[in-house]
Amino acid sequence: MTQQDTRTSPASSGLQRRQLLATAASLGIAPWLLSACASPTPSAAQGEAAIRQLTAGQRRKLGTLEVFPVGLGCQWRPGATPGVVADSYSSSFDRPAAVRLIQRAVDLGVNFIDTAEVYGPFLSEDIVGEALQGIRNKVVLETKFGMDLDQQTGKRLGGLNSRPAHINQVVEAQLRRLRTDRIDVLIQHRVDPAVPIEDVAGAVKDLMAQGKVLHWGLSEPGVQTIRRAHAVQPLTVIQNEYSMLWRGPEAQVLPLCEELGIGFVCWSPLGMGFLTGAVKAEARFASAPVLDFRAVVPRFAPEALPANMALVNVVKNWAERKNATPAQLALAWLMAQKPWIVPIPGTTQIAHMEENLGAASITFTADELKQLNADVVAINIQGARLPPAVMAMSGVEAPLKR
Ligand SMILES: NC(=O)c1ccc[n+]([C@@H]2O[C@H](COP(=O)([O-])OP(=O)(O)OC[C@H]3O[C@@H](n4cnc5c(N)ncnc54)[C@H](OP(=O)(O)O)[C@@H]3O)[C@@H](O)[C@H]2O)c1
Repeated sequence: MTQQDTRTSPASSGLQRRQLLATAASLGIAPWLLSACASPTPSAAQGEAAIRQLTAGQRRKLGTLEVFPVGLGCQWRPGATPGVVADSYSSSFDRPAAVRLIQRAVDLGVNFIDTAEVYGPFLSEDIVGEALQGIRNKVVLETKFGMDLDQQTGKRLGGLNSRPAHINQVVEAQLRRLRTDRIDVLIQHRVDPAVPIEDVAGAVKDLMAQGKVLHWGLSEPGVQTIRRAHAVQPLTVIQNEYSMLWRGPEAQVLPLCEELGIGFVCWSPLGMGFLTGAVKAEARFASAPVLDFRAVVPRFAPEALPANMALVNVVKNWAERKNATPAQLALAWLMAQKPWIVPIPGTTQIAHMEENLGAASITFTADELKQLNADVVAINIQGARLPPAVMAMSGVEAPLKR
């Protein structure tokens, strides 16, 4: 989607930018908040009002659903010590802080929350359920099934499990943990190579008939599997990795979503934090006591990172040009590709969550988007996006029904 900006001369926009930064610094708030405010000298409280105005005023369609353009990813697991809740990288907080983050996001107008059975396992759904007590009806709640977990202990049994009886069991447990009577969007986390997608779609259709599931989707499926699933029970979303750092969906999946009218949700929209500028060329990621997932991802390996920093430089330059932060620019780029794309950035910090919402106020002219896309495409990212064992679960076609 391309929208028109108000054009200013480079000299006057440079002056405006310096004034904006100075005013923001004096108020102790982010420059993007100022640019989102109508008043030239807003207070911090007016900054919050600007966020609320933004979230109330904007919606994107995911199939028949309507959501604020930026969602919230809730992917957490137990940290190294009791009481600590860790993300997949190097950030952590405690459970009350995780609850506060979700509640603050919903209070500000975020209405699309993503989680999964396997995140924790069970812990993330449990935290989301606690946080949404009393405010459940304000959000579109998305969760996932499909990893083979012992339903009592959460222990990973290895591999995938989308057998219909297992899906039913998982959904019952998810409803309990999420403290709700329905899942708005139920996603198959990865295609199960042992179960025809028609059987999975049939099981979800039955859950829909019972009112326990309202919409469904697939994560990282093969393209024929998308068509077959959609033919049995129309899909509302495909959830794949998509960001400036990984543009794989552009080849086949996004055109297919457009053809079939399926919404697209981007996971790791900030490139696992890389696109925020927080990762340095010499960064090394911890493998213990809690694994930072990037330690096993080839594109973050010491031999790949220095070359890949070229993309961060593009993001930073464009962020400056748009009076935005790098994270906002990276999210705005995704939303500018199609009007039915919704990113779900993950964070442990309320300030980062609030900053990320500001991406919805950034627009590009047609010329800007063309230039920005060209700058992004010009960079040849080194290293695979995932370790081989995880990659092997992406783009899989479900077996045919015998
Ligand atoms: N379907 C799937 O297979 C799948 C796979 C992976 C993830 N997901 C979903 O996608 C969501 C997001 O993906 P992700 O967490 O992997 O990656 P991401 O959103 O690309 O990046 C998260 C990282 O960015 C940092 N961050 C966020 N906002 C920031 C800001 N404004 N400034 C600076 N740093 C910022 C976070 O650190 P701080 O905590 O310090 O902010 C964290 O390290 C997950 O929560 C999950 O719901 C789905």
